[in-house]
Amino acid sequence: MLETRDLTIRFGGHVAVDHVSCRFEPGTLTSIVGPNGAGKTTYFNLISGQLPASEGQVWLDGHELTALPAPVRTHRGLGRAFQLTQLFPNLSVRENVRLAIQARESGRGKGGPFGGLDFWRVWLDRRAWVDEAQVILDQVRLGDRHDAHASSLPHGDQRKLEVAMLIALQPRVFMFDEPTAGMSVDEVPVVLDLIRSIKARRDCTILLVEHKMDVVRELSDRIVVLHNGALVADGPPAEVIASPVVQQAYLGAAPQPGAVQPGA
Ligand SMILES: Nc1ncnc2c1ncn2[C@@H]1O[C@H](COP(=O)(O)OP(=O)(O)O)[C@@H](O)[C@H]1O
Ligand SMILES: [Mg+2]
Repeated sequence: MLETRDLTIRFGGHVAVDHVSCRFEPGTLTSIVGPNGAGKTTYFNLISGQLPASEGQVWLDGHELTALPAPVRTHRGLGRAFQLTQLFPNLSVRENVRLAIQARESGRGKGGPFGGLDFWRVWLDRRAWVDEAQVILDQVRLGDRHDAHASSLPHGDQRKLEVAMLIALQPRVFMFDEPTAGMSVDEVPVVLDLIRSIKARRDCTILLVEHKMDVVRELSDRIVVLHNGALVADGPPAEVIASPVVQQAYLGAAPQPGAVQPGA
């Protein structure tokens, strides 16, 4: 189980994430919603270790991760979608996915029984990784673009490549930050189907930041609302979406005192 306790970050005097305490169970999909600037991306960055917490803690399966650097958290099972800035723009799409697989395997200590000098083993592993990369690319409908440079992909395909690399890591916690943003209408279902199929395995914890409320309503087991960095609502989708606090958050107004806060 993933848990944040009083997780907080301040940028100067601005509190971007404000004492957020939340638990996320395996087999569930939780959407994190809130207006622009609410702190959703920053919350993900604190969980994945891209930003250091000013206060509070991150726990995964009873181990505290707060002080660990991002790559170590990745090896512990926290999967944050790669940003394109983390990719190798001049390598092919498939090589990028292959490197994610290789990073996963080296994190698991699978260097082959005879270490780095076992060339035959290295060759076999490499073949297997290329094949696996191709399977994942087929899943995200990028199979026919495997030879293209990552930098040459149009925006929607770049987002699919991010998802492919996240899948390649085989994390226990998937964090999707607006995975369909900037996609054309016909590309959106591909990504939503992938998230559905990850959810159907029932062994992963999925966190989703998404603005499309119909998508959120359909996919989520639970919705958490952030407003000005603070958690202001937490509960089942229908209840949270109908609550005054969400209606107000989406209108950009501050929650009124006494507003119904599901789960609070
Ligand atoms: N590295 C940073 N330095 C200073 N302020 C930041 C930084 N990252 C985010 N912020 C601020 O934190 C707040 C939350 O941003 P963000 O998490 O990106 O919101 P959201 O993803 O909900 O739209 C915003 O006011 C943003 O300007
Ligand atoms: Mg954001």
